[in-house]
Amino acid sequence: SPLLNVMTRAADKAARGLKRDFGEVEQLQVSQKGPADFVSNADIKAERILREELQKARPAFGFLLEEGGVVAGSDPDHRWIIDPLDGTTNFLHGLPHFAISIALEKSGEIIAGVIYDPIKDEMFCAEKGGGAFLNDRRIRVSGRKSLHESLVGTGIPFRGQGNPDRFAKQLGVMMRETSGVRRWGAAALDLAYVAAGRLDAFWEEDLQAWDMAAGLLLVKEAGGYISDLKGGQTMLDSGAVLATNGLLHAPLQALLTNAA
Ligand code: IPD
Ligand code: CA
Ligand code: CA
Ligand code: CA
Repeated sequence: SPLLNVMTRAADKAARGLKRDFGEVEQLQVSQKGPADFVSNADIKAERILREELQKARPAFGFLLEEGGVVAGSDPDHRWIIDPLDGTTNFLHGLPHFAISIALEKSGEIIAGVIYDPIKDEMFCAEKGGGAFLNDRRIRVSGRKSLHESLVGTGIPFRGQGNPDRFAKQLGVMMRETSGVRRWGAAALDLAYVAAGRLDAFWEEDLQAWDMAAGLLLVKEAGGYISDLKGGQTMLDSGAVLATNGLLHAPLQALLTNAA
């Protein structure tokens, strides 16, 4: 679609810069936004390119940018929600697992999402009602029904966020009940992987809207289900996400609730 074309073209362009910077990671300027919260000139440059490209294509839309904050547009109904580099910590350590995440929100609802991993050249995209795709091929969540066979992603709370004791309990039940837990370090890709059936589920608390906006739509369009950890739909406000293939949602949510 023309909209997804605009988004994937912007992601491609910003990704070229990220790939160059990833090759010379020791030369980046890194500053600290808060405890264990880093940003580099690679994040900033990628965000500037995304903003310029999207503004050229849709001049009236506003923005919610991880690094730049809120930019009002003349069209009050549409805004881009952008994480220019999800997985900054991986990036800065030379770990090749990070992505660009772009979502379009219309009147409070996410209607399009693109997540691009430039190292693996994997472009995940979805438009509301149109299904989810990885590089032009349709993707679906997994069909796994057995909790014991499931592979689950998570994010470990850091920089003093979240509740370490609660997380330890959640991890404990997941260690007992599933076939394994992964911590990849880029929440947008975790969600894309649930959409692609690579992970059967993913949970994390303390995320931001830009970490999850595109991923939420991808999971839905791939046939999965998303809620907060209590089964509500507060994800974008509370920052808590449980994304599953649908089949495993109720048992996983019960485990997480009991571990709270
Ligand atoms: C982070 C990643 C990470 C998650 C953090 C996020 P950033 O985003 O998505 O996986 O655990 O909560 O802040 O800062 O690398 O864009
Ligand atoms: Ca960040
Ligand atoms: Ca992020
Ligand atoms: Ca980021």
